[in-house]
Amino acid sequence: METKIEMSTKETAKNLGNTSFALLPVKELKYPEDFVNKIICGDCLELIKLVPNNSIDTIITDPPYGLNKNGVRNDADLNLFYDILPECSRVLKDDSFFITFFSTKFLPQLFKNNAFKYFWQIVLYCPEGRVKSPIGFTKYMSCFIFKKGNPKIIRWNKDIFIDTPGKMVEPDEGYIDHPTPKPKHFIKEILKMFTKEDDLILDPFIGSGSTAVACLQLNRRYIGFEIDEAYCKIALDRVSKFSSGIESNTVKKEDEQNYEHSR
Ligand SMILES: C[S@@+](CC[C@H](N)C(=O)[O-])C[C@H]1O[C@@H](n2cnc3c(N)ncnc32)[C@H](O)[C@@H]1O
Repeated sequence: METKIEMSTKETAKNLGNTSFALLPVKELKYPEDFVNKIICGDCLELIKLVPNNSIDTIITDPPYGLNKNGVRNDADLNLFYDILPECSRVLKDDSFFITFFSTKFLPQLFKNNAFKYFWQIVLYCPEGRVKSPIGFTKYMSCFIFKKGNPKIIRWNKDIFIDTPGKMVEPDEGYIDHPTPKPKHFIKEILKMFTKEDDLILDPFIGSGSTAVACLQLNRRYIGFEIDEAYCKIALDRVSKFSSGIESNTVKKEDEQNYEHSR
């Protein structure tokens, strides 16, 4: 996607130091300086081509997966997911995890054209979930853990977590203006299980920036791609809020407490 350079973007980049989002034409982006700890606005299929082979420690993502969700581009089918999979495999280091949310509806298709090896499923139980399903309502989201090679788990834990009450609301942030934001406390649990401090995490479909915020709070580095400029701005706002050391420490404590209470 060719996009114009905006003054406000440069200003933002300057103000935020190592956290910013880029609106540069893809061919002007340089790896790693324009990628690491950045939300990059553009098409992940183009952007990922600039990421070197075997350079990413873990991929954690939440792709469009064919549910035709209002406000999520490329959600009519699984084509984009299938297109990005080989690139994810290329950029991921050997012995690493590929972790993705996916729909129960299309579960069998997750294993088609998929070079990764299936490892486990982690469930996010959503007591207030009201998404219609063929049997009534769905009350959980699934996150699938795949492997490239034989990675080691960093911290043992469990495979069912509970969502904080209130859809699209983070206890410490309020309403997140994106159709499918994932709770950052859940992503943090995943990060603690499968990644180490300073690891480089790629999310090619970062949406409202939940993966970036979770990485910031746990001292992981991140790369986030998002095609929709409005969502990039939301992600950038969240990242800037959490990148101030003092604020993120305060928020981290509250966030952990809320999550403890919800378990
Ligand atoms: C399911 S949402 C991710 C939500 C995210 N996990 C969060 O917590 O906000 C998928 C995202 O992929 C983005 N997307 C769709 N096609 C894309 C593409 N070609 N490149 C980058 N992002 C894309 C959509 O705009 C949407 O925000």
